[in-house]
Formats: sequence, structure tokens, C-alpha cells
Amino acid sequence: MDLNKGYYIYTFGCAMNEYDSERISSSLEIRGYHQVLDTREATIIILNTCSVRAKPEIKIASYLGVIAKDLKRNDRDVIIGLTGCVAQDQGKKLLKEFPLVNFVIGTDAVANFDELIERALAGERFVDTSLMTETFVIEKFKRKSKISAQVTIMKGCENFCTYCIVPYVRGVEVSRDVKEITDEIKALIAGGSKEIMLLGQNVNSYRGKLENGSIAGFSDLLGSVNEIAGVERIRFITSHPKDFDKELVDTIAKLDKVCKYIHLPAQSGSNNVLDKMSRCYTVEDYKSKIDYAKSVIPNISFSSDFIIGFPDETEEEFQESLDLIRYVDFDNVFAFKYSSRPGTKAATYKDSLDNATKSRRLAELFALKDEIVTVKLAKLIGKEFEILVSGRSSKDSSQFHGLTEQSRGVAFSSSKDLKLGDMVNVRILEARPNSLLGEEIE
Ligand code: 5AD
Ligand code: SF4
Repeated sequence: MDLNKGYYIYTFGCAMNEYDSERISSSLEIRGYHQVLDTREATIIILNTCSVRAKPEIKIASYLGVIAKDLKRNDRDVIIGLTGCVAQDQGKKLLKEFPLVNFVIGTDAVANFDELIERALAGERFVDTSLMTETFVIEKFKRKSKISAQVTIMKGCENFCTYCIVPYVRGVEVSRDVKEITDEIKALIAGGSKEIMLLGQNVNSYRGKLENGSIAGFSDLLGSVNEIAGVERIRFITSHPKDFDKELVDTIAKLDKVCKYIHLPAQSGSNNVLDKMSRCYTVEDYKSKIDYAKSVIPNISFSSDFIIGFPDETEEEFQESLDLIRYVDFDNVFAFKYSSRPGTKAATYKDSLDNATKSRRLAELFALKDEIVTVKLAKLIGKEFEILVSGRSSKDSSQFHGLTEQSRGVAFSSSKDLKLGDMVNVRILEARPNSLLGEEIE
């Protein structure tokens, strides 16, 4: 191993960024670099940034501060790059602000990482935040097949929820052609992938070209992916509730490989707040969509995102979010304190809510979630699940580890020599707060 060819990459944010990081890693590894987990061993350092919440600049600055201290101590030559949403959003400003940084590559230009890294290696300091709406070049990258592989089906978002910076950073919606997606999936499966995670900021808006020139919607795409031999499971993120219609539910019901576990961000349980967020649905709409899905697919379950403390959220409005969480009985809930993003509409809203109140509400929401999840987990004892084997358990190497369709991790015993990617049936024997224990059954 060439000790001068270590690269370090840190990924903030969502699955899109993880996917981009994977592509950057592939590109560097083809060039003979290997990933290191300590910046002090790296000659290329990449921070793949996120701007959806919090003060991103502060995070970058503190990271770069740590790196800078070390470089000064050791007098080393390192190339430092910023990618992701903050890179896209702030571009040139970052090069000016952080003299240590060699390059800034935005969310679209990262598709040309192969060429851009050459420029960086040749000593150039540059910014590329060009947005490419015509082409959606991504497969310039050779990808490693993971058991669960992510595949981007579309990019961008045109919903403009009032709190969200994504439409400004990731641009207009562009969908990849169906064949490009299915070809990529076939290649991943040939390399050993079993589970395919379809990615898009807003997958329901997928409108990709078919070979005959007509347009396929998201339900059509799911159908095509379901037909690919060797695909064991299909997941997708993220769905927008306003587009989560009967057609899509009926499609999910029909397709055996699509996981009956859907992430459907509600954001709030209050109609007034939803309206101020421009989410284009009411709590009643949301509930009736969930009710319909549960009536057609009895074993379906949901997870969701909530924003706490949207400008001037009242105590009643917050309690309505808790009511919705109880109503749906979510398998998992992610919640975030509202964070004002410059340039969005909500950033202009009056916000008199203090931080202590936001923190208290967030804690209350998580306590409710824990309560719901504990009850749910206890009910799983004695039940059987199909598990996709993801390896040996980290705590006990005689045990295997894998995920259920609902993305719950299970550690289990088996008399067989199971391999990564095997599908087995497991009975749950014990439910601990953060883990399930089970045994393989025939
Ligand atoms: N403040 C807090 N949370 C936000 N999210 C998006 N924008 C903001 C913001 N400005 C949350 C939403 C979204 C998730 C990815 O991040 O809940 O679903
Ligand atoms: Fe942001 Fe709304 Fe688009 Fe999701 S749907 S990325 S929350 S604007």
C-alpha cells in the first residue's frame, strides 16, 4: 500500500451525499488511493457537506480548523476539497474564506469528479458549481457493489417547501432514463448487490424516458426494477405525501420485492403549520393516505420526519404533531429543530419561539417515539421475519446480523455458514431497546 495515497472523506447529510461520496471514493480508488479513517494519514481530504439544517459554515470551519492545526504541526502536503450542498450554495466564497481549501465542487459538477480531481492533483485551485440540467451524467464512475446499493433515479426538487433550501441548491427536477437506471442496477446485481435503494429528493415526481420515447412514472419504474432477476429488495426515499397516491400504493401492494416500509415525511400534524410550510396536504389527507395503504397492505409500516418549532409553532400545534405520531403508530420518527435557512421563504417569518421550548418539545417527541417503539418491539417476540444477512454480529462473532424489511437490525444464531447477502427466515426471541435477538428457522 502506498502510504502517500490515503484519502479521507467525511459525509454530512442525506443519502444523496452518501451516494456522491461513494462515487468520489470509487474514482479515487481507481487511481490507486485507499480510504483512511484519520485525516493525519491522508493526502486527499474531502468534506462532503450538507446545508439542509444548522450552520454549515461553522461545521466546515471547525473541521478545517482541526485539519489546519495538524498540517502546521507536521508540515505536510495535502489536497483539501469541499463538495456537496454547501459547496454548491457558496462556491467561490469558500475558497476565499478558507485558504487551506484547494477545490470546491458542487452537487452536479461532482459527476465530472474524475476530470476535476486531475486538475486538483496538478496543483490548480478552482471552483466548479455548474448545474447541468440537460444531461444527468453519473455513470462515468465504476461502482463497487454493496449488499444494499443506492441508485439515483432523479435529482432536484421543485416543491419549494418554505423551510427548505434543497430546491435552491439542487436545482430543478431531472430524471434519468429508465434503461440507464435498470442497466446500472443489473451491473450492481452482477457484482453481488441484493437490495436496491432508489434515491431522489422527491421520487414521486420521477418522469423518465423509456426507450420508445414515452414517459414512465415512478410506479412504472418500480415495476421495471421489480422484474430484474437477482434483485431481492427494493426501497426508495423520499416520497412526498401529496404525491403518495392510490396508484402508487396499489403498485407497492402488487410488487413482491418492494419493501412494505415507507418513509413519508409528515413534517407537522397541524394544518396551520402545514399550510405555512406549503406542504400542499392537510393532516386529514395524510391520515387518509395512511389508512388506505394500511387497508390494502395490512403489514405496511411507516417512518416519518417532523420539524419542531417551525416559526411561531404553538403548544397546541406541537401537540397535534404528537397526535399524528400516535395515530399512525410510526415504526420510526426522525425529528429536527427548525433551523432558518437563508434565502428560503420561512426565513422571513417572524419567529418568537425560544430555543428552550424547542428543545423541550423535541425531547417530548422523542420520549413518545421511544414509548411507541418499545411497545412495537415487544410485539415482535415470537414473530418470523425474512432477513437479509449483512455480516457477523459485531458483538458476538458466532452470531449473524441482518435487516428486516422494516430496516430493523437483528442479531441471530444459525447452524449454517451464512454468507453476506443470503436471505434467511429468523424468529425473534428477545427485544432489547436497540436490538433484536433471534434464531434462524428452516
Ligand atoms: N429546519 C429543520 N429541519 C429541516 N428539514 C429540512 N429543512 C429543514 C430546516 N430548515 C428536515 C425535514 C426533511 C429532512 C430531510 O430535514 O424534516 O424531511
Ligand atoms: Fe425540501 Fe420539500 Fe423538496 Fe423535500 S419536497 S426537498 S422538504 S422542498
